Amino acid sequence: MAEIRRPDNMVRITTAALADAFIDEQVALIREQVGDKKVLLALSGGVDSSVVAALLIRAIGQQLVCVHVNHGLLRKGEPEQVIEVFRNQMKANLIYVDAVDRFLDKLAGVSDPETKRHIIGEEFIEVFADEARKLDGVKFLAQGTIWPDILESEHGIKAHHNAGGLPEDLQFELVEPVRILFKDEVRVVGKALGLPDNMVYRQPFPGPGLGVRCPGAITRDRLEAVRESDAILRDEFEKFGLAGHVWQYFTVVPDFKSTGVKDDKRTFDWPVIIRAVNTRDAMSATIERLPYELLETLTERITTEVPGVNRVLYDLTPKPSATIEYE
Ligand code: XMP
Repeated sequence: MAEIRRPDNMVRITTAALADAFIDEQVALIREQVGDKKVLLALSGGVDSSVVAALLIRAIGQQLVCVHVNHGLLRKGEPEQVIEVFRNQMKANLIYVDAVDRFLDKLAGVSDPETKRHIIGEEFIEVFADEARKLDGVKFLAQGTIWPDILESEHGIKAHHNAGGLPEDLQFELVEPVRILFKDEVRVVGKALGLPDNMVYRQPFPGPGLGVRCPGAITRDRLEAVRESDAILRDEFEKFGLAGHVWQYFTVVPDFKSTGVKDDKRTFDWPVIIRAVNTRDAMSATIERLPYELLETLTERITTEVPGVNRVLYDLTPKPSATIEYE
């Protein structure tokens, strides 16, 4: 397939009408490209893959096979939402793979950040390839590549990994229906396709997921503390009207313990670190000035509701000197 590029004079998709026109055009193009063959898609539940899934469901329905790999490093409720939205509501052909043990066993005892990232990436490809091999008649692979991915790989800023990685025996023709769109346009298209707001307007979430927010060697109990505290943080941001206004916010549970006291007994538990940053391009970031009442509510809820935690800390460090994530 010839390299499709964003036309220089393309109007930015900012309205439902423009999104509908884009959707109609892509639906026709997808049908033309795919014919009656099957298309495979790794559906993480992130914005880009979700919008690609919704577009393909509209274009080819059951010819699309979505694979959702739960690697155990997703946020609370995410796998359930993928199943609810795509299988139950959109009637997609969705394969759910519970690979939690597979990933966490491989990651056990591994503390080096880049090694952790590498294991997560490799294992993902293996799990996905295992599923792909079980299917017959798949000719295409759909991907949520977007225009900045293309530009960044052309300018050598970051390798665009989407296309690579699958083993030799699994070579597919690519279907990339949002490749000429900027992120804000992908969101407008997703909204027009009927995806829920908390999927379309979600904050950025790193590929290695909660794995990089559980610094050092991941253990299941500390990972659970990250997941539970993150869920409380998101819930309270929503209640305080901050969801969608702060660029990225999350919790980290470092691998050290400190003394505390609960019910007149000594405790020796982890702290939870809160991170809330604003940025335009993630190259530098400033700290959100969170309301004190929110910080107090978070401290109260996290120390009472999350097992193994006795302190809450607020990270005031901009980027630089810190990065946004901890690994
Ligand atoms: P840092 O920590 O480098 O993060 O300041 C900048 C932005 O990139 C995200 N991030 C990642 N995203 N895979 C991803 O897909 C990764 O390995 C990864 N590491 C960081 C981070 O969440 C932030 O938005």
